[in-house]
Amino acid sequence: MAHELRHMLRDDDVNHEEQKQILKLAEKFRLNRFYARPFEGPQAVAVIFDKPSTRTRSSFSIGVAELGGYPLVIDKSSSQLGRGEPVADTARVLTRMAYGIVWRTFGQDRVEEMAKYATCPVVNALTDQFHPCQVLADLQTIAMHRGGVDALAGQTIAYVGDAANNMANSYLLGGATAGMNVRVSGPQGYLPDPQIVADAKRIAEANGGSVLVTTDPKEAVADADCVFTDTWVSMGEEAEYAIRSKPFWNYQVNDELMSYAKPDALFQHCLPAYRGKEVTSSVIDGPQSVVWDEAENRLHAQKALLTWLIAWQREDPSLLGE
Ligand code: CP
Ligand code: NVA
Repeated sequence: MAHELRHMLRDDDVNHEEQKQILKLAEKFRLNRFYARPFEGPQAVAVIFDKPSTRTRSSFSIGVAELGGYPLVIDKSSSQLGRGEPVADTARVLTRMAYGIVWRTFGQDRVEEMAKYATCPVVNALTDQFHPCQVLADLQTIAMHRGGVDALAGQTIAYVGDAANNMANSYLLGGATAGMNVRVSGPQGYLPDPQIVADAKRIAEANGGSVLVTTDPKEAVADADCVFTDTWVSMGEEAEYAIRSKPFWNYQVNDELMSYAKPDALFQHCLPAYRGKEVTSSVIDGPQSVVWDEAENRLHAQKALLTWLIAWQREDPSLLGE
């Protein structure tokens, strides 16, 4: 482990083995909340929100504190970022004080700019393009229900709904990195960026997995080990609410669609969920749903990610407990 500044801006910022290392560490944190303590007392991690959040805010706040650090939570409305201060200047200032920067914002270019000027690790806590912290938690959730991290490769995951959003992109890249068979389904006009699909295909092939993008939700879900969906109207798209609901009705995850997956398939949703829209109550509140494990795993997966990034920065593999 050479001294290196690593960031988590998109899911393929880690390779197959590195993702496994983080997920195994996440399992250690799940079994022992205080498994590692990379921070000493007041070392601060800045956690910035340009969009609303419940899970990400609570899991990073509690997670940084449990790692021994101080979570400095900043809202757009109460910071100069919200008044147009350049990202580069914000990075230059925060990086002189904080030991990590976690940021939920709009364009992916903004977290990339932050990482360019930061001398501490930068974590994407959701952009319009990617939500890599969520997918780490989702993979951990499959691992905990399906024989551990080493059992992830070769499993089939299906994401159905708005296939052009951040979750679809992150399942493509994160699932491909895990060596899974990743299927993504949405209506025409709501399919993923071809460049992200090409990246996912290249990564999946290198790791023994595959990628399928289809407008047929049944084809996506057929014999899947885990089915995912997400809101049809992501943060920042509220003005499109009326036009966005219409194309997605065939992509609702309901009992009928779940019947095409394996009989013991898991159901996950990053939350917040809109029952009666992208998922029925019978599915999200039913026996195949593991959404509360998934939400809890945000805490463990992100503590593992921060510990892993700090281990690289300090060139200290002992933090990983290996
Ligand atoms: N899943 C997720 O990121 O939830 P929040 O928007 O509540 O953080
Ligand atoms: N696609 C959703 C995910 C919320 C966690 C959004 O961006 O609003």
